[in-house]
Amino acid sequence: MRAAVHDRYGPPEVVSVRDVAEPEPRESEVLVRVVASTVNRTDTAYRAGRPWFARPLYGGWRRPRATVLGCEFAGVVEAVGEAVGDRAPGDRVYGYVEGRFGAHAELLVVPAGGWIDPVPDGLDLTDAAVLTEGPHYAWAFCERLHVGTGQAVLVHGATGAIGSAAVQLAAARGAVVTAVCDAEHADLVRRLGAHRVIARDRTDFTQDPERFDVVLDAVGKSSFAACRRLLRPAGAYASSELGRGGVNVLLAAAPGVRVRFPAPLPEGPTRRGIHDLITSGRLVPVVDRHYPLEEIVAAHHYVESGRKVGSVVVDVG
Ligand SMILES: NC(=O)c1ccc[n+]([C@@H]2O[C@H](COP(=O)([O-])OP(=O)(O)OC[C@H]3O[C@@H](n4cnc5c(N)ncnc54)[C@H](OP(=O)(O)O)[C@@H]3O)[C@@H](O)[C@H]2O)c1
Repeated sequence: MRAAVHDRYGPPEVVSVRDVAEPEPRESEVLVRVVASTVNRTDTAYRAGRPWFARPLYGGWRRPRATVLGCEFAGVVEAVGEAVGDRAPGDRVYGYVEGRFGAHAELLVVPAGGWIDPVPDGLDLTDAAVLTEGPHYAWAFCERLHVGTGQAVLVHGATGAIGSAAVQLAAARGAVVTAVCDAEHADLVRRLGAHRVIARDRTDFTQDPERFDVVLDAVGKSSFAACRRLLRPAGAYASSELGRGGVNVLLAAAPGVRVRFPAPLPEGPTRRGIHDLITSGRLVPVVDRHYPLEEIVAAHHYVESGRKVGSVVVDVG
């Protein structure tokens, strides 16, 4: 089968499309013929081996453990192991294999108990492929910051994969959402549920006169120091990046500091919550562009440019 393979850390050019052996499902696994995946910021970070000090957590000091990246997938079940009762060949499925990876390949093995769900009727497989990574982080943000009805929530980086999901999730929870993004994306974020938009190319959002219960930096380009003045007395700040020297994690661990770090939550409740939002139409895909598998190096470059809006799809099948 064709797969995008990288056997060392480095720039996008370390990835090449090659023929590799087809995987076979074990007893409790599902073999999926991948139709679409994404290149996301998790893939590009793992490919680059960044941050370097986290390499042992997900790979190895010298070389990656997962040589085929791709953590989001949508496709059709090809075969199932003997112990799998709830999936059958021909089923349209989507899911998330962070840590395991492997979706940048024609065939992918997924544990039956992992994040693999039926694609709702009426949803394209290519659209379903973008509905896990961003929402999964956005879900962690909303849970850890207790986003709920009537709260004033500011989302910085509202057009990224995490940000566009965070706007939708916060709106679905009844929050009043202010989105910060480029003026040209204002209509998009309004359609996703933002009540108000701050155009970051025209205004410094940190000087906004409003005060918020939650400031959520989905693109990790701000700091608590700069955003503190935006918070209401009991408000809290969170960022999708570690911050310089890991400052966001350190602040989140310090007692009394209004910073939360959105470490991912157990997969089961997150997965069920996201599936409910998709089936009820409250979480919709935001797709920037598509690349064929053979052009995956260009996809990595584009994602690393920091300019993508929503997600970048890789057409595999
Ligand atoms: N915690 C984790 O484990 C984890 C996992 C995945 C990703 N991440 C991090 O989360 C961040 C977001 O990833 P993503 O895929 O959601 O984002 P993304 O898609 O890369 O976000 C791109 C969007 O962010 C906005 N943006 C770019 N530069 C900006 C800047 N300097 N200031 C404000 N906005 C800017 C732009 O939108 P506008 O032009 O419309 O403003 C752009 O379209 C990344 O930094 C990534 O490294 C963390």
